[in-house]
Amino acid sequence: MRNKFFIIGISILVLTTIVYILYDVGLVFMVILTLILLVGYANTIQQKHAILRNFPVLGYFRYLFEMIAPEIQQYFIERTTDGKPFSRNQRTIVYQRAKNIDATTPFGTQLDINQSNYEGIKHSIFPTVVNEELPRVLVGGPDCKQPYSASLLNISAMSFGSLSENAIVALNKGALKGNFYHNTGEGGLTQFHQQGGDVTWQIGTGYFGCRNANGGFDKDKFTEKANLPEVKMIEIKLSQGAKPGHGGVLPASKNTEEIAKIRGVEPHTTILSPPGHSAFSDTKGLIEFVAQLRLLSNGKPIGFKLCIGKTSEFEAICQEMITQNCYPDFITVDGAEGGTGAAPLEFSDGVGMPFEPALIFVNKTLVFFGIRDRIRVICSGKIISGYSILRAVALGADICNSARGFMFSLGCIQALRCNTNTCPTGVATQDRMLMKGLVVADKYERVYHFHKNTLHAANELLAAAGKNSFAEVDINIFMRGDEFSHLSDLYFPDNLKSVTRY
Ligand SMILES: Cc1cc2nc3c(=O)[nH]c(=O)nc-3n(C[C@H](O)[C@H](O)[C@H](O)COP(=O)(O)O)c2cc1C
Repeated sequence: MRNKFFIIGISILVLTTIVYILYDVGLVFMVILTLILLVGYANTIQQKHAILRNFPVLGYFRYLFEMIAPEIQQYFIERTTDGKPFSRNQRTIVYQRAKNIDATTPFGTQLDINQSNYEGIKHSIFPTVVNEELPRVLVGGPDCKQPYSASLLNISAMSFGSLSENAIVALNKGALKGNFYHNTGEGGLTQFHQQGGDVTWQIGTGYFGCRNANGGFDKDKFTEKANLPEVKMIEIKLSQGAKPGHGGVLPASKNTEEIAKIRGVEPHTTILSPPGHSAFSDTKGLIEFVAQLRLLSNGKPIGFKLCIGKTSEFEAICQEMITQNCYPDFITVDGAEGGTGAAPLEFSDGVGMPFEPALIFVNKTLVFFGIRDRIRVICSGKIISGYSILRAVALGADICNSARGFMFSLGCIQALRCNTNTCPTGVATQDRMLMKGLVVADKYERVYHFHKNTLHAANELLAAAGKNSFAEVDINIFMRGDEFSHLSDLYFPDNLKSVTRY
């Protein structure tokens, strides 16, 4: 291929030169061809890229296509029900609700609802009246001195660093307008989170914002921030679904001087938070840490976030709560299908329990230990619609968080570049040029509308199910396709035999 390239290239160059000498035309073409031949030559002698060594110019097309493959996939190949992690239909509903425009669909479902994995709500013939008020849930057990009335839907943890300054400001302003909370993520509480919206301050293993010189927990720094009026709740991050047992990753390209200063780390280096906490190393220590944070924050709601792994460890935590008579005010359960700014693929694809079994397990275990009524269960895992909220509540959640849903509301197009600093929508980048595309004044309104319209949709579904409040929702309002998949049931339903005729 290399030889062909040079034989053909040089032949054309010779011809062009002759034409130029004879007719005085083709100079530009000659210069371009010479440049291409020089680049081609440089590629044949470099030793890093095999493709470019063998295909000195054509090889570049591979890189170009690889670069634009996600866009080609999304714009030309993907069907409305395809697309991962979120289908086009799922993304579209968020965009429509965020823009506060018509979010209806025409012509009926595009799903194959005769599949055994079909799920639906058993609606009632006697629907209730749709509540126009958006649902709220009080967080704070008996030991909490400053309970917080949380919205049923809130912004899940995403740090400044992983998201841009404009994205964080828009999220917080949206939270202020819609009266819901904004979780800071493990990157710490920054001025961009302090636009007036309620904040859940997350403390990760890097203790950013309350970190001492050795990278450990600093009591005084914590106390100062924890008592700010906008900090409504404090969440200890044990793990997150996309990378349980790994710790946070901030790629060097996103670790700017400003972020490094906020976090107290070296700029332009990749920041890996440790997988585990240094403030405690066992269940006893974790519950003692909950008690310590409650004391230092003057009784604000304290909880922890985790992705379930070894179930016995969660059971041991519950036992420890009873032993110490100290209970977190909330537990946030993150499904293994959760999102992230950056994670090793092995961790995203192969570690941790998915959302559905995890939520059922946590709820049942708390009930088993007799402590469910003291603790609010918060959940996150692809919650982007009214349906997913109702389903989460049915599986045992009190409150829902959404991360990627709110990213879509900011204009995220699922470009899958959060880890490269080249996010084209300015949501997950620290590149000032790209960030400029995200206009806070417009996007915070979208954050507000997405929250409002999604909860309104949840209220509508609740009414369709014939329920008056989310407390009445349980798994029995859902049906699965496989309940009806036996042919004998389909055509001669057994259950009809047991119907009494009056
Ligand atoms: C860009 C990005 C950054 C995230 N950063 C954090 C973080 O700092 N701390 C954390 O606990 N979870 C973090 N998460 C996980 C989310 O908070 C959430 O638990 C997970 O994505 C599931 O919710 P979702 O399906 O609504 O995205 C992050 C997720 C994304 C997409």
